[in-house]
Amino acid sequence: MENLDATLEEALGKVAACEDEAALKEVERAFVGKKGAVAAILATIPSLPPDERKDVGRGANELKQKILQAVAARAGELSSATLEAERKGEGFDPTLPPARLATGSLHPITLVTRELEDLFESMGYTVLDGPEVELDHYNFEALNIGRDHPARDSQDTFYCDEEGRLVLRTHTSPVQVRAMERLDPPFRVVAPGKVFRQETTDASHDHTFHQMEGMVVGKDISVGNLIGAMKTLLRGIFGKDLDVRLRPGHFPFVEPGFELDARCPFCSEGCSVCGRTTWIELLPCGLVHPNVLRAGGIDPEEWSGFAFGLGLSRLVMLRYGIDDVRHLLGGDLRFLEQF
Ligand code: PHE
Repeated sequence: MENLDATLEEALGKVAACEDEAALKEVERAFVGKKGAVAAILATIPSLPPDERKDVGRGANELKQKILQAVAARAGELSSATLEAERKGEGFDPTLPPARLATGSLHPITLVTRELEDLFESMGYTVLDGPEVELDHYNFEALNIGRDHPARDSQDTFYCDEEGRLVLRTHTSPVQVRAMERLDPPFRVVAPGKVFRQETTDASHDHTFHQMEGMVVGKDISVGNLIGAMKTLLRGIFGKDLDVRLRPGHFPFVEPGFELDARCPFCSEGCSVCGRTTWIELLPCGLVHPNVLRAGGIDPEEWSGFAFGLGLSRLVMLRYGIDDVRHLLGGDLRFLEQF
């Protein structure tokens, strides 16, 4: 029985000394927990003389209740003390930075597309859109690429139906034909968008990528106009004048067709971007083939034009120093958060 009194005194002292909830929990466990002091007292009962067992048992249970009441009372004091301190502004630091909210950001392709749209609009171009699931007619036929033309193989087409009438567009050039059908010449248009090719992917090839088609139709358009426009375009993109060179390139919908290379904007002696050649292959282009003008309902005797196919994905990679095209559409937040 003396042990009971001593234990109660000790417990009350410790409870009163607790300054926070964690300490209080600790004290509670030490006295009334499964292996606590009260449990130890109860465990001695069977070894006591029979006439003492009842009193000690009752005493131990009363002890337990008293300790629990003291713990509950102290817990109440502690929490109202915390509230009071918070109310007075203690323990609350208004100068701490707020938790950062996660926000989204524009995709690098969107950033570059918008920039180019602004650039082209400032030069009098209209921005057009076209379907990604396209009729074979627009993707190939009207672009002078007949049923058996080998260019269909090189473009690794995804066909969407048994008859091969619907395809995932393999380039943005079908928008040229749609533009000619809708607009009266003279006109200038650009059409950015997604294109698809059935391709084995690697660091420089993806099955889905972005292009930006451009087309200008007017009177007496020449290769000189084409080169001038391309140089303006490159200055807009890279912020400086770049030398360009034309190599012959074959595309059935342009004649003559070219591959336009620009002097590497990043080096003068050769670097990893230009493959140590100081030239980068940037955009295929050419004068619109008369058959294509005709397919778009425009008289090639009266009008002529040029067209170009800017590799948007390529340009985004150059702009941001991205070394693998698969990062662009891979959906990895660690990549996307950087923009
Ligand atoms: N559409 C062609 C391609 O994707 C590129 C191109 C566009 C070539 C316009 C010439 C003129 O390969």
